[in-house]
Amino acid sequence: MELVIQPDADSAARLVALLIAKALREKPHLVLGLATGRTMERVYAHLVRMHKEQGLDFSLCRTFNLDEYIGIPASHPGSYRFYMNRHLFSQINIDPRNTFLPDGMACDTQSACRHYEELIAEFGGIDLQLLGIGADGHIGFNESLSALRSRTREKALAPSTIAVNRTLFDNPAEMPSRAITMGVGTILDASNIILLVTGSTKAEIIAKAVEGPITSMVSATALQLHPRCRVVVDEHAATRLQAQEYYRWIFATEPEWAEYR
Ligand code: F6R
Repeated sequence: MELVIQPDADSAARLVALLIAKALREKPHLVLGLATGRTMERVYAHLVRMHKEQGLDFSLCRTFNLDEYIGIPASHPGSYRFYMNRHLFSQINIDPRNTFLPDGMACDTQSACRHYEELIAEFGGIDLQLLGIGADGHIGFNESLSALRSRTREKALAPSTIAVNRTLFDNPAEMPSRAITMGVGTILDASNIILLVTGSTKAEIIAKAVEGPITSMVSATALQLHPRCRVVVDEHAATRLQAQEYYRWIFATEPEWAEYR
């Protein structure tokens, strides 16, 4: 795991977008794992800008989102399909047929979950998975006590997650309490992972996630097991990290980061 501290939320998101753009230029058929949420909005804004200004090409890229609510259609403004169309897909040259989210409207949720795993495998697995973190340490919607080897499945959302996410719904009562999410094991199968964390409200949980003991109570701690996981945080999120000096030293001196300094 490597951790990079950036001055503010926008430069952190920009760095993540640059890392994604680099991966996409190196492999135009990139299989990209995507996340939703407030933190990701800036990343998608940067990717859209890079597409418009520099011609960043998504035409061959395939995307798999981490999760989708159960029981609201793609046309619902609270659905993650709607979010992705709005913030990214409608503004870049991606083929909509190459964009995948779990089917939250499936009659048979279990077989929809199995199908999602099969589809990811058919495309050769996820090359680069983008992640945010929830206040309880969830990645995707893997709430506390999610098995560290879990696969795509239906999950009941934690009351804390519902409380935070329902504010994104025009009518908070419409916020579903269940979702389909890739499992922690599914996420760990990605070849590369980037976790983006910004803001002081995430300072405590990101310190637990990267410097605390691995526990299913905090799903993000499982990322410590991944051989190629990069974590990008802003100064506000970095305040509780014990090894800040070391992280800053790595970013300032390691050749792999030279082009981003
Ligand atoms: C959503 C997802 C979640 C969010 C997390 C943080 O697809 O994967 O794990 O990344 O809840 O959300 P924000 O960025 O809104 O704090």
